[in-house]
Amino acid sequence: MDFIEQLKSSVDIVSVVGQYVRLKRSGSSQRWVGLCPFHSEKTPSFSVHGAHQFFKCFGCGMGGDVIRFVMEIERMTFWEAVKLLAERHGIPLPRREYTDAETRLRAAIYRMHELAAEAYCSALRSSAGAQARAYLDKRGVDEALRDEFGLGYADPGGTTLARLLAQEGFSPEEMEASGLVLKRPEGGFFDRFRGRLIFPIHNESGKIVAFAGRALREGDEPKYLNSPETPIYRKSALLYNLHRARDAIRKQDQAVLVEGYMDVIGLWRAGVRNVVASCGTALTEQQVRTLRRHSENIVVNFDPDAAGASATERSIQVLLAEGLRVRILALEEGLDPDEYVRKRGAEAYQALLENAPGYYHWLADRARERWDLRTTEGRLAALRFLLPSVQRLQDKLERAAVASELAAYLGIEAGLVLEHFRRAAAERRPIETPAARSVPPVERILLNCLLASDEARRQVAPELKSLSLDRLATRRILRTLIALEDSGGPVSYAALEGRLEDNDRELLASLVLSDELFEESQALEQAWACLEALRAAEREAERSRLRARIKEAERAGNVDEALRLTEELTRLDRS
Ligand code: UTP
Ligand code: MN
Repeated sequence: MDFIEQLKSSVDIVSVVGQYVRLKRSGSSQRWVGLCPFHSEKTPSFSVHGAHQFFKCFGCGMGGDVIRFVMEIERMTFWEAVKLLAERHGIPLPRREYTDAETRLRAAIYRMHELAAEAYCSALRSSAGAQARAYLDKRGVDEALRDEFGLGYADPGGTTLARLLAQEGFSPEEMEASGLVLKRPEGGFFDRFRGRLIFPIHNESGKIVAFAGRALREGDEPKYLNSPETPIYRKSALLYNLHRARDAIRKQDQAVLVEGYMDVIGLWRAGVRNVVASCGTALTEQQVRTLRRHSENIVVNFDPDAAGASATERSIQVLLAEGLRVRILALEEGLDPDEYVRKRGAEAYQALLENAPGYYHWLADRARERWDLRTTEGRLAALRFLLPSVQRLQDKLERAAVASELAAYLGIEAGLVLEHFRRAAAERRPIETPAARSVPPVERILLNCLLASDEARRQVAPELKSLSLDRLATRRILRTLIALEDSGGPVSYAALEGRLEDNDRELLASLVLSDELFEESQALEQAWACLEALRAAEREAERSRLRARIKEAERAGNVDEALRLTEELTRLDRS
């Protein structure tokens, strides 16, 4: 077995996908469904099959094996995905270096980030880091917390990291691609981060992919300097602290979204473990989808200033569009989350968090501040402002409740609000696969049995050859399966799928994923029963063909022929 096959057979796709997507069992114990991480959807059309080790989304078409899944979700090359899976499962990689140019460059950049992080950390501990340490002390970030978040210090000299990377033998191309150093016009490199407090930024699997550097002196601009996009860093897809927070987000089934790195650290210190930040960009659809893989409940706690409020408004739209349940925590007296927990304590914060109101209350308050609700124009303007968000509520009852609440709040007739809601309340149906439904149950079950059980295949596949498969919807799949069995090689879902044309490949995936009638423990019995049913159907078809010919012969006055055919029919009935 080659290494890739060996790897695939020793990792379980359900547990790998399950780390990124919340999966629920569906029907048989081998099928799992969840919301697709690769496109927007509100009802699950993403499935994973445990026995056949593949995933498939009937919404966006994405599908494949466990390596493909890791490549897509982590945006990795093939060999990076292989390495990640091997490392996570303690499978030793073969000595021979499996790579391509892109993987090599990215590996070099990852390594440079590790080296840089070590250098920044030790600088923070050295005498040069005294000022940065004093700053962190002032903000209540003690040594344990510094270590936990890997905080560091970039000295103001501007050559430390450039020299280190050159010494370690990285090429100028690799150094430039890393974004950690900048090219000098006269040749050579200098450090991007100088005289700053350093926050490492990790991807979801916990590797450092970027840094943010905070100015330490008032008036040093910008306040935060961030890494540029590189082959390993895409700003719009990343959430700060997700790799630390994701277990807690799942356990509590809720995430807290804040604006700043310091807010994350401050809340973490206060025991809030499900906290992430959006890394200084407006919240993107991709970030929301990433979050949604872990929980659908989110509390947005941005800064209480005007910028924070409009960022909150914008993010509500993005979050609702992706189907999340949104609550807003607005802290009083202009305190940001970090300041709040330091002044009022963790318990006070937790209490506010638990009682954070639904986003529409927060929006209604905003509307009240903005328009004069004593006038008709003001009330209508407020309604228009609120409707788009409130219409996105998924649950009908909740929508009705919110509608009347809002109506009371704004002093508008409830009927009017409800009328607006109704118009936009098109509920989406789950994506079904018409392909699977068009196949008769007997064929669906048979195919599943033959794929699930070696014994069923060994016994029943040869029998199928005596049938005429032409009438069957799955004839090409069955023939390919029979040929595969005849060839004596291992028969698996992947092997079968690899020999099919696109149409049949889709059909196979939907048959395997949607069959509720097939019972794995009875695959052999079911396969025999299906074979019998197909034989009976074939005999029945033959009978009606004979009856038609008998009638025809009688009409034509061809008595001999009619008699001969009748005898044939009797023989068939007896068998
Ligand atoms: P804040 O200015 O609120 O920073 O910006 P903060 O994290 O609360 O830091 P302190 O408490 O002032 O030290 C919020 C976030 O916006 C991004 C950063 O991600 C920051 O954490 N930002 C801000 C930038 O990317 N660049 C900037 O110049 C400023
Ligand atoms: Mn802040």
